[in-house]
Amino acid sequence: MRIAVGSDHAGLGLKESLARHLAELGHEVEDLGTHGLDSVDYPDFGAAVGRAVAAGDAALGVCCCGTGIGIAIAANKIRGVRAAVVHDVSSARLAREHNDANVVCFGARLIGPITALDALDAFLSSHFAGGRHQRRIDKIEALEDADALEDLHP
Ligand code: RB5
Repeated sequence: MRIAVGSDHAGLGLKESLARHLAELGHEVEDLGTHGLDSVDYPDFGAAVGRAVAAGDAALGVCCCGTGIGIAIAANKIRGVRAAVVHDVSSARLAREHNDANVVCFGARLIGPITALDALDAFLSSHFAGGRHQRRIDKIEALEDADALEDLHP
């Protein structure tokens, strides 16, 4: 699977270890930066990963920043992206099963490296459950459409 990865300076070390792990599993990793420890802005990298996923250049995205929060907020601004901050195996699995997340985000300053690797494995091996969850994803997608906002909040 082709997977886009990105981080700011705070997430760099974790991003590199997750990218190495993905490559060892046989995935094709597209590293969209950052590549050094100089201070950079997480929205640039969240957007880059989000755009790669939304465009279909990557099937999934992996993002890291200090908390995972900022880079997830940025990635979620890209139409079609469902980025989830995960903290453990359970949140990673449920992000896929219930939310059909296509970008997984980690807080490098908050999560241990082994927990992050386990959570990434859980994210990759889980699948969207569909059913009632599909209706909710449809509503999220409707929120991306300005006209639909009228229908949701008349
Ligand atoms: C960078 O200092 C930090 O603010 C960033 O990595 C992230 O935690 C933002 O959400």
